[in-house]
Amino acid sequence: MRIGIPRETRSDETRVAATPDVVRKYVERGAEVVVETGAGARATFDDESYRRAGAVVAEESAVWSTDVVLKVQPPTAGEADRLASGATIVSFLYPESEPEAFAALERKGVTAVAMESVPRIARAQKMDALSSTANLAGYKAVLEAANAFGRFFPLLMTAAGTIPPAHVLVIGAGVAGLSAIVTAKRLGAVVRAFDPRPAVKEQVQSLGARFLDLPLEAGETAGGYAAAQSEEFLRMERELLAAQMDEVDIVITTALIRGRPAPILITDEMLAAMKPGSVVVDLAVEQGGNCEGSQRDRVVNVHGVTLIGWSNLAARVPVHASTLYARNLQHLVNHLWKDAGLEFDFEDEIVSGATILHQGRDRRESAEPVAAGGGA
Ligand code: NAI
Repeated sequence: MRIGIPRETRSDETRVAATPDVVRKYVERGAEVVVETGAGARATFDDESYRRAGAVVAEESAVWSTDVVLKVQPPTAGEADRLASGATIVSFLYPESEPEAFAALERKGVTAVAMESVPRIARAQKMDALSSTANLAGYKAVLEAANAFGRFFPLLMTAAGTIPPAHVLVIGAGVAGLSAIVTAKRLGAVVRAFDPRPAVKEQVQSLGARFLDLPLEAGETAGGYAAAQSEEFLRMERELLAAQMDEVDIVITTALIRGRPAPILITDEMLAAMKPGSVVVDLAVEQGGNCEGSQRDRVVNVHGVTLIGWSNLAARVPVHASTLYARNLQHLVNHLWKDAGLEFDFEDEIVSGATILHQGRDRRESAEPVAAGGGA
């Protein structure tokens, strides 16, 4: 089996789909690995480190003609056209937001495995690239906020006087939210958080943050995700959050209902109530955002509040983001790899959920829906 690792071409993408360590594992298992010249450069992995791991370093045409292409970002339509017939691509794919590329993959008759469609079940945890990405993004969101904030995070008692700690509000306590809470606590902030799933209250509290309660139940789906909330719930939630605005300095928003646009939870009026110099990092910006006025991949100032809308925070931690993503991919590839090459057993929930295109046939109705975008 020949595995190809192309260089990512999206301008803000610094990650690579295989690190030299993971390449060595593929080679040891009997694969021939072809890495595009410069593929790992932005994540500090040079061509020589891939050669030492047993890969062939070559130009892009040799990479795209392999049996299995591993990528981070969805391929462009042009890249999809370069795949060999009968090939497999494993990558974040987001067909709803990349319809032309998906159509090209379909036309080509290839098999496409979407990292965002790996089911979030215990058996697939080691392949769960969305969680790895969200973990890094939650961490980096707090660092971005700290950088843009003209004050300290921790309480400081100095001879010149005492500096109070920063107050951070995290909205949504899923993977990204919990990671943001931990990071903000480590930096010395006083943290409060809200999530409609009462089940996470204990987790939030065990991390040393205060959980904001709402006297209204919002359900959970069978998979443990938040169910879509009623207008009444969202109205009450906005009231609860509005009451925090003049007290908090930093807001990190991560609220997501799978398969739906992000709910607006911070309105323009609420921003106006924040202290000048406050910072909001809107992680849900790719699904439309949780904060009114936040803009994808831009930093804007509204009523004296800095709104940060980076959609690809993991790419700002390229070494470890690549390391974790490459391992998630490796577990998935190993799961599919039988003797001579990849085999697709659709009785297996992981294979069935993640394989959205099989030999050119769209299998999406059998895969679990995910929101467009979603932090590749
Ligand atoms: P997750 O599904 O683990 O967590 C989402 C959380 O939002 C859940 O705990 C859910 O209960 C909560 N939620 C749902 N409705 C809410 C509401 N009305 N109010 C407050 N909380 C609510 O998702 P994950 O992986 O933590 O991702 C969170 C968000 O961050 C997503 O929008 C994702 O696309 C985005 N993301 C952004 C990245 C970036 O670089 N900008 C990178 C990774 C993820």
